[in-house]
Amino acid sequence: GAPVKADIGKLEPGQMVVVEWRGKPVYVVHRTPEMLEALPGLDGNLKDPQSEISSQPAYITGEGRAIRPEIFVAVGLCTHLGCAPKYRPEVGAADLGGDSWMGGFFCPCHGSKFDLAGRVYSGVPASANLEVPPYSYESENVLVIG
Ligand code: FES
Repeated sequence: GAPVKADIGKLEPGQMVVVEWRGKPVYVVHRTPEMLEALPGLDGNLKDPQSEISSQPAYITGEGRAIRPEIFVAVGLCTHLGCAPKYRPEVGAADLGGDSWMGGFFCPCHGSKFDLAGRVYSGVPASANLEVPPYSYESENVLVIG
């Protein structure tokens, strides 16, 4: 399939847009500095904090899993059975694990939780992080997926 372009110039900090790529939803989140700061502290709560068994391009590394730290790009399909996780950025939401929840994605089908880098929490059915698709930047505000 052809690459898909998305203009992210108007994506405000904290917002998410969904871009369709090869029939799949791709989530694009503009992460705030606070969101990024929270990521390393979550490693102990996660199954694959460095994405060693999860799917992502070789140029995606570290806890943030992104080319530009503030822009997170991932396929919006739960790695358990493929439902669409909900974007739930609120810190500390009690129904999502209280204090250990620093915002992220929540799958309503069987309760899998992912952080704001798409990294899966321990104790949920999904075993891998959300997939990061191949992508690049054509210019500062134009994201190319595929
Ligand atoms: Fe997401 Fe099962 S499909 S938890």
